[in-house]
Amino acid sequence: MIDLDAHPQRIRVGEEPILMMEHIDKSFPGVQALSAVEMNLYRGEVHGLLGENGAGKSTLMKILSGAYRQDSGTITLNGEPVEIQNPLEAQRLGIVTIYQEFTLVPSLTVAENVFMGREPGGRGLLDWSAIQRQTETLMWRLDIDLKPMTLVRNLSVAEQQMVEIARALSIQSQIIIMDEPTSALSEHETQRLLQIIRELTAQGISIIFITHHLEEALEICDRVTVLRDGRNVGTEPINRLSTERLIRMMVGRSASELFQRRSQHRFGDVALSVGNLNHTPDTRDPNAITLQNISFAVRRGEILGLAGLIGAGRTEIARAIFGADEVDSMDLEINGEPVTIRSPRDAIRLGLGLVPEDRKQQALFLALAVRANLSIASLSRLLRFGEFVNRPAENELIEEYRRKLSIRMATPEQRVSNLSGGNQQKVVIARWLALQPQVLIVDEPTRGIDVAAKAEVHQLLDELANQGIAVIMISSELPEILSISDRILTLRQGRITGEFLRAQASEELLMQHMALDEAVSAQVRM
Ligand SMILES: Nc1ncnc2c1ncn2[C@@H]1O[C@H](COP(=O)(O)OP(=O)(O)OP(=O)(O)O)[C@@H](O)[C@H]1O
Ligand SMILES: [Mg+2]
Repeated sequence: MIDLDAHPQRIRVGEEPILMMEHIDKSFPGVQALSAVEMNLYRGEVHGLLGENGAGKSTLMKILSGAYRQDSGTITLNGEPVEIQNPLEAQRLGIVTIYQEFTLVPSLTVAENVFMGREPGGRGLLDWSAIQRQTETLMWRLDIDLKPMTLVRNLSVAEQQMVEIARALSIQSQIIIMDEPTSALSEHETQRLLQIIRELTAQGISIIFITHHLEEALEICDRVTVLRDGRNVGTEPINRLSTERLIRMMVGRSASELFQRRSQHRFGDVALSVGNLNHTPDTRDPNAITLQNISFAVRRGEILGLAGLIGAGRTEIARAIFGADEVDSMDLEINGEPVTIRSPRDAIRLGLGLVPEDRKQQALFLALAVRANLSIASLSRLLRFGEFVNRPAENELIEEYRRKLSIRMATPEQRVSNLSGGNQQKVVIARWLALQPQVLIVDEPTRGIDVAAKAEVHQLLDELANQGIAVIMISSELPEILSISDRILTLRQGRITGEFLRAQASEELLMQHMALDEAVSAQVRM
């Protein structure tokens, strides 16, 4: 029932929830993912679903969207009990999920993607002008400037997400589930998405919003439900919540008990130096990024932060150093010795590690067990007689990183694809740490990771620096860059635009060097 003292604006007093999920249980082999979970949703409400990695958020939403069946418990929609057997049925009931991995077809246009599978006109005859007109209307309703005939392949991640939302709107959804929709968006794009969410709710649509960014939840949600270990911690209206309170509900500890960097790193010699890095890519690729005269060095024991907007070239620099992409020119030195790196294999042999940005595509063997994923890169260290894996050593290694990073898994034999998103990320990080690199590059290391685990990753990077490892960290979150880097480089459009010591830097200063007017307007365009 609604508490009259603290009812959020968008929910009308006396109204019944449109959705009630009651006493939901779900288990997987070795894991009780949800126990007696309750959640309800009002018309036009934005309801945040928060909790640590593995808390059960995605599982609960997969039940609501028909991807999984609950073991027990009931779902009531508009006052009627419903059995949601599969995703198509969920769609028929007006429930749509916007996943992080998009389901769009890159080679088709925006309009074709919006109406895929149910083109107006019927009987196999496509009424093109109708599709185009309707897509235009949808975009207008959302106040999005996207042309119906643009190929999806040429859209940014944020724009693709808009297409997914237009699609959800076109099938007359009443509930839109967004599972970490902002994790790959820039600050501007995130604000734009929040604006669109406000427009959707004004049209009576309800949103379930999963995020690890607490400020975002506080900004957009009417109420928040927190899960911990598959159980309800509570549901609270937003005006009773704060970051501090949310952290306490999520992890059972206060923010001040989480890691905050205090130690002073002691720098050694230059571990890696990059000079004269230039690259002019194939102009046919609309997303290609030119790198211009990139030069920098990082010392042992130092954490160097690379700050920049999406498209500034940070990931391209990391991939070039690691031998993953060919570039026009680059002079590399490791420990003062000139080296040539032609492939990631060369890079690993020379003591470099790279935790990539996109864990799904580049980093994990999803069909394999955690065991194989964790030890695959360090296999050579574990080989005792050339070909037999040293099991005790492998078990020790897995146990060490499971503990260090609090990786939540049933057993090391569990498939990585069954771990929660954040725990998959931890497996990637652990794999590279196990290799004991001399220079470690981490690209968006805490994307999709909960607040507590994020603090653990920060602590770990800090420890690595204390052990004399040179760390290069790419992050889109300025607070993260500012809290753990010793030195920060700003990048804009493939060039280094500034260098700051931690003590000198502030968000405003970095932002000024990351974005010129042109860069900002390019970001706002979408
Ligand atoms: N198909 C599956 N098979 C086995 N275990 C699973 C499966 N799907 C989820 N789990 C387990 O259920 C638990 C809850 O996972 P879920 O993905 O719901 O977490 P989450 O709250 O979404 O976490 P994150 O913030 O990391 O995305 C985890 O322990 C996960 O390993
Ligand atoms: Mg999840």
